[in-house]
Amino acid sequence: MHLTARPIRLTWEGKERTRAPRAGRLVELDRHPKESPVRLIQGDNWSVLRALHRELGGRVALAYLDPPFWTGREFARVERRRDPNTGKVLRDHHPAFDDRWTDLGSYLENLADRLRETRAMLLPEGCVVVHVDPRTSHYVKIVCDEIFGQDAFASEIVWRYRRWPTKTPNFQRVHDVLLRYVRDPSATPRFYQLYEPLAPSTLATWGKQKQRALVVDGRRTRSTTLAEQSPGTPMGDVWEIGIVAPVARERTGYPTQKPLELLRRLVTACTREGDWVLDPYAGSGTTLAAAAGLGRRAVGIDESPVAMQVAKERLAAMGVSLRRQRFEVEAGVPERAAGAGS
Ligand SMILES: C[S@@+](CC[C@H](N)C(=O)[O-])C[C@H]1O[C@@H](n2cnc3c(N)ncnc32)[C@H](O)[C@@H]1O
Repeated sequence: MHLTARPIRLTWEGKERTRAPRAGRLVELDRHPKESPVRLIQGDNWSVLRALHRELGGRVALAYLDPPFWTGREFARVERRRDPNTGKVLRDHHPAFDDRWTDLGSYLENLADRLRETRAMLLPEGCVVVHVDPRTSHYVKIVCDEIFGQDAFASEIVWRYRRWPTKTPNFQRVHDVLLRYVRDPSATPRFYQLYEPLAPSTLATWGKQKQRALVVDGRRTRSTTLAEQSPGTPMGDVWEIGIVAPVARERTGYPTQKPLELLRRLVTACTREGDWVLDPYAGSGTTLAAAAGLGRRAVGIDESPVAMQVAKERLAAMGVSLRRQRFEVEAGVPERAAGAGS
């Protein structure tokens, strides 16, 4: 079946209404050197992405988007401290971000606008990874098909985690969905193969040596063992990685913080040293921390002052030189037309 011949599109009331990012400029917040490998920008990501386009458009190897999940909730950072008088642990709540929407259409519209702008930032061999959950992933995939093209779809990664069981007459929900799309399906993508350990059955039968299939008349007949050690099995698209545990060293207290290991995998597989990594929903700065630790350059955007503070402290603790900016809306400047330049 040729899906591209008659593309299938998701539609909802108000989908095509005209919207536009705000016009404005990026203002430096510190006197840090401009060549800092990591940049943190406060502001609405749609407007900031548009403002960054002249500088970084077509230059980003990996964009990771971890938007709010359409939970209908408000999220706060919980900071624990000990009461100096009683010794009891106190929890301070700092409102971080709001994930309440009028309806699913407005949520998808908001994300689609950001995805279009993100696509324009990518290298031809670059890719985007959108992190959502099973309640919206099927809608988001169709939106991505429309923006990137059905043939640009690369993988659906299932991030499987373990968490405290809930009492529910249903299967426990223990996975998120990460949709990966390439910028240009005709370009050879940036992709560095990762491996996972060989299956116990393979180890028992063949040991740790590499295998080579013997092919006769185009058909695989049997395998032979080579002298060389196997690096493992090429990594699959189901990843078992622990959530950030309450006592984990990497825990910042920022709500919905993702594990560093998840981001390290993506950055390692999809970029090389010196590449640009972009995170328009930076939160506590997990992507920036992973990218900086692996020698990549990174830009993170978030509108929440709480996120900015957490990410700043986190990167400072790693000794990363940080360039901080804020998006300032230009007064009296008419809004630009939506869609241009993407
Ligand atoms: C799910 S959290 C990201 C968590 C992050 N991946 C981490 O590991 O900490 C989503 C973030 O997106 C930010 N956000 C939501 N809408 C935004 C917008 N329009 N512009 C900029 N940031 C936004 C929120 O403030 C929040 O910090």
